[in-house]
Amino acid sequence: MSELNKIVLKIISKGKGILAADESNGTMTKRLKAVNVNSTPENRLLFRETLFSSESMKDCIGGVILYDETIKQITKSGVSIPDLISSSGAVPGIKVDTGAKDLANSTEEKITEGLDGLRERLKEYFDLGARFTKWRGVYKISEKYPSKLAIHSNAEALARYAALVQENKMVPIVEPELLMDGDHSAEICFNRTSEVIKICFEKLLLHKVDLSGIILKPNMILAGDQSKNKITKEEVSQKTLECLNSSVPSEVPGIAFLSGGQSEIEATENLDLINKNNNTNFIMTYSYGRALQQSALKTWSINLKDVEATQITFNHRAKMCSLAARGKWSNELENK
Ligand code: 13P
Repeated sequence: MSELNKIVLKIISKGKGILAADESNGTMTKRLKAVNVNSTPENRLLFRETLFSSESMKDCIGGVILYDETIKQITKSGVSIPDLISSSGAVPGIKVDTGAKDLANSTEEKITEGLDGLRERLKEYFDLGARFTKWRGVYKISEKYPSKLAIHSNAEALARYAALVQENKMVPIVEPELLMDGDHSAEICFNRTSEVIKICFEKLLLHKVDLSGIILKPNMILAGDQSKNKITKEEVSQKTLECLNSSVPSEVPGIAFLSGGQSEIEATENLDLINKNNNTNFIMTYSYGRALQQSALKTWSINLKDVEATQITFNHRAKMCSLAARGKWSNELENK
């Protein structure tokens, strides 16, 4: 087993998943504003430190994706954030893309940037304790999108990123996210997601990326949030499994879904059904941002100093996601 494959398994096996706490300062400011909290470096640290020192980190969270500001922060007790995460047995990770910008000649679409100087930044993050990384390509779905241009240019960037990350002995999370925004059907989501993922793997192979040392972070197959033709949860799980089974090479050890705007319960229930029906050899788990943090953020905003209340809320959510990663979640356990 390669060193990279060992890191992958440490992060996603045994019912563990990933806490995506890599919101940029801009996104985090939006999240904090929504619960009437000032977005200062101290508050951002306090919320994240509260989550990272929760009991559920030991059994439910195999990796945490951080943002540049957070990986360099030190807790009140003088421990660095990567050390705090490692002390619970989880692996510290880092978002390394620098965001999505307008794509020239298809300006309604985005291209993710961050390749310039990436090799040097990766060395710095490795020294700070990171052992895995994330890069997100983002695609909108409509009749004409994603365009061939967006599909190929984002896949090329994802592959160049992944190759550089492995060169620096870290595991790349490869995240091609097709957005839920819009009125498209689940069938269109299925077709476009399959196409995007297939092209991503063509480019990953072209760039000689070791597929046993990556984690794929895709969206689930869902109808658009404005669609009148929603599909059932059972269909979501079946279509998602069918799509991944036919487009992801078998060397890939695991798939960690993004929540992408689903509610906490939806994201948990869908993952649970995916695992109950999992007829593939892939580990299927979570790499959730909002679907792990939403309730905890609300609880925390009531009293920023009430560490216990925030951790109780977070522990419950993490435990439910971990049950779902093993296909063992139920409504009864959710409401217990
Ligand atoms: P959500 O689960 O909130 O979609 O965030 C996951 C993520 O990391 C998106 O890049």
